[in-house]
Amino acid sequence: MLKINLDKNLTKILIIDYGSQFTQLIARRIRELGVYSEIISHKRVKLSNISSKHVRGLILSGGPLNVYQSNKIKFDKRILNLGIPILGICFGHQILSKELGGKVKKSKSREFGLAKIKKKNKSVLTRDFFDKKGFCDVWMSHSDEVSKLPKNFVVIASSKNSKFSMIENPKKNIFGMQFHPEVTHTKNGKKILRNFIFSICKSKKNWSPKKLKSKLIYHVKEEVKKSKVICALSGGVDSSVVAKLLKEAIGKNLVCLFVNTGLLRKREEKQVINTFKKRFKINLIYVDAKKIFLKKLKNISDPERKRKIIGNLFVQIFEKYAKKIKNIKFLAQGTLYPDLIESKSVTGSQTSKIKSHHNVGGLPKKMKLKLVEPLKYLFKDEVRKLGLELKLKKEIVLRHPFPGPGLAIRIPGVITNKKIKILQEADFIYIEELKKHNLYNKIWQAYAALLPVKTVGVMGDNRTYEYICLLRAITSEDGMTADFYNFNKKFMQTVTNKIINNIQGINRVVYDVTSKPPSTIELE
Ligand code: XMP
Repeated sequence: MLKINLDKNLTKILIIDYGSQFTQLIARRIRELGVYSEIISHKRVKLSNISSKHVRGLILSGGPLNVYQSNKIKFDKRILNLGIPILGICFGHQILSKELGGKVKKSKSREFGLAKIKKKNKSVLTRDFFDKKGFCDVWMSHSDEVSKLPKNFVVIASSKNSKFSMIENPKKNIFGMQFHPEVTHTKNGKKILRNFIFSICKSKKNWSPKKLKSKLIYHVKEEVKKSKVICALSGGVDSSVVAKLLKEAIGKNLVCLFVNTGLLRKREEKQVINTFKKRFKINLIYVDAKKIFLKKLKNISDPERKRKIIGNLFVQIFEKYAKKIKNIKFLAQGTLYPDLIESKSVTGSQTSKIKSHHNVGGLPKKMKLKLVEPLKYLFKDEVRKLGLELKLKKEIVLRHPFPGPGLAIRIPGVITNKKIKILQEADFIYIEELKKHNLYNKIWQAYAALLPVKTVGVMGDNRTYEYICLLRAITSEDGMTADFYNFNKKFMQTVTNKIINNIQGINRVVYDVTSKPPSTIELE
């Protein structure tokens, strides 16, 4: 695998992950402040990695465990004596307290959601954090609490239900807090992280899209040398950024393959060809595979079978074309940092498979191609910034995510050409209206789907019997959890009327108001 290890000399804040759903958020917040951060599972911590002079500070994340489940937790006490500043959050706060001689017990009153904490003592960590009266609203999520302070620790703040909400050993630069400073619900939470990384860890700013661009180009050039790289370009944000980055790094030695599955959005095919082939002069092979995809999907209604058929077909087409090109040694993919982090398995629990996500991940073993994954240390918002730095149009960079299997998973039940056409039109109208009303960029992802149900309607004086169009729009941080977007009535009326008046085949529009969980973002 291509080792784009960024820069070995890059100093960082290392986050030890104990399985919290917010671990990635901690890393993002620190990078937003301009300092590089990495996540490592508590099971993989090695003292030699941590004692490296490049680690400026350690953050111990929250997590679902309790500190007395010692068989499930890896904690090397020696990290406490390295002289590196440490900040423990929630479970991190409890494990630090326990390991340093304090006590943790079940709370009499659990705290979930908003709580108020009150300042007890001054600390560098809380500069500009409390209001004038010494209070701050914070976000808690815990059922255990620190019940006895470790030796040489003082209390910085307390809440109504927990005396030791925030503690410190100022001499050793070790801090603990029961609440989550990384979530936006904690007012001024970012100030705590800023104080920690700059005032306590003495980090210097070393992370920006501009620096990143030249670093990544340098590393790709070094590794790929004169070989050719094939890249599966879908027109989505990640593969577009990878393609443009590689074009800048290796020019003609990049070959992009764009497979038109027939399950793309309206005008997508033209947009990809215009942008990459005509404007950026990228070596682009266009494969029109509409017929074969539709043929293989005929009469298939099971969501998992659809996904498998599409994934396999894609692999076959990719292999066929890759074999035709001489000197291809690498396959470029838009893998992102969240795909890489194993945070879900740190608790040892098996997460059940919800959906077979389709990408080209199955390819390399078979084709003996080495992987180039230049975005594998980046979060989505960083990829977007990098895309702008690479002079990709905002229209591409700020696009909503679009799934690999495309419209196939937005047409529950059997897929036909007619249904695809109807859906492409409805989706186009919906997205255009979102843009017109300046809503597109406020929404994380929006799309139209075509439900396999016909209902009765009346248009003019005639009875209609047509499909239902479902609209979805969600807000989210990373697609793992989501909430529906609250449109006003006028917007919903405008979109509904436009869809029904312009598209034959739809006579009813519904809006999906479920969050994730319990639903998923896509329908299948
Ligand atoms: P779900 O439906 O699982 O989707 O809540 C979460 C995010 O992932 C996208 N998605 C996919 N992306 N291949 C992809 O590249 C897939 O097979 C796939 N399935 C879902 C979805 O659009 C949402 O952004």
